[in-house]
Amino acid sequence: MEEFEKRGIGVVSGRDACARALRSPDLTSDPGGGSPSVLLRDGDGHTRVRGVLREIIAGLEPLPDAVVASIEAAVGGLGSSFDLVRDFARPVAGTVASAVLGVGLDDGFLDRLEATTANLDVFGGTDRAGQAAAFRLAVQLSRTPAGPGGLTALREAHAAGRLDDDELMFNPVVLAHAAYENSLNFLACAGLELATSGPRSVRELVTAICPARYVLRFGPDGPVAVSLTDGLPFGLGRHACPGSGVALAEGEIALTALAKHLDSGCEVRKVRWKTHPVFHGLVSAQVVVSV
Ligand code: HEM
Repeated sequence: MEEFEKRGIGVVSGRDACARALRSPDLTSDPGGGSPSVLLRDGDGHTRVRGVLREIIAGLEPLPDAVVASIEAAVGGLGSSFDLVRDFARPVAGTVASAVLGVGLDDGFLDRLEATTANLDVFGGTDRAGQAAAFRLAVQLSRTPAGPGGLTALREAHAAGRLDDDELMFNPVVLAHAAYENSLNFLACAGLELATSGPRSVRELVTAICPARYVLRFGPDGPVAVSLTDGLPFGLGRHACPGSGVALAEGEIALTALAKHLDSGCEVRKVRWKTHPVFHGLVSAQVVVSV
């Protein structure tokens, strides 16, 4: 909150006020400057790009067997001592992000994705290191040979005149980042809940954890941060998360496998939290399984 006030950003909180704000025609996601990112625009351009992304995400509903098998293998292979972020959330969220795009999951891809920082405003913000990393990832993806999946679908949409050059360049990064960052933070926090307080439904967990705490909108009186912590973890309205079904399915599979792994009990040590004002997550947390 203080962080927003310092920057002259108003805050909207309370479920009803937030729902109204997210549905309001007077508040836009477009900060000006003509960003090609689906997240930073409204109107026909937003509807068109979102339509292409939604078709891509539908290819993972239900999650393909190969993706389910990779998630289960990653979690099943955890040893008796592991880190919830590095060893659990990272490989699971990475598997889904690479499946969304249809590109191989190598560490270069994940490293570049993480270097874009926990800030989806990757081209319009003030974080130069984040912007530079996002630009490098965009260039790398533009040169990556892709199999069936999102990157190929975006290229086909461009060839069919549904996306312009800039939209094709930037939205692969936006899609990969959207699929990765919130899922990574959610899975690690949900893993911690599971390890310390026992099982709860994935829907309950995502609402309680709310990994994206605020979304930014621009109105006649300046920018406002709309809180999602009062029961709106996937947002609402025109920009509501189109990947929520994938996120819930991914969480269900990964957390079920983790619960099995922790069946005999465990101890959690060295819990470190991120301090980002918007993206809520863990830096690391060490789990030691009881024998
Ligand atoms: C627990 C995991 C996730 C959470 C909490 C989450 C949350 C959100 C929220 C709150 C927004 C709205 C942003 C806004 O209103 O400005 C959003 C947008 C978006 N999310 Fe998710 N998300 C998650 C996972 C995913 C996954 C797995 C995918 C892809 C498969 C995805 C794709 C997207 C895209 C493309 C957008 C932009 C939509 C638009 O601007 O119209 N998300 N997400």
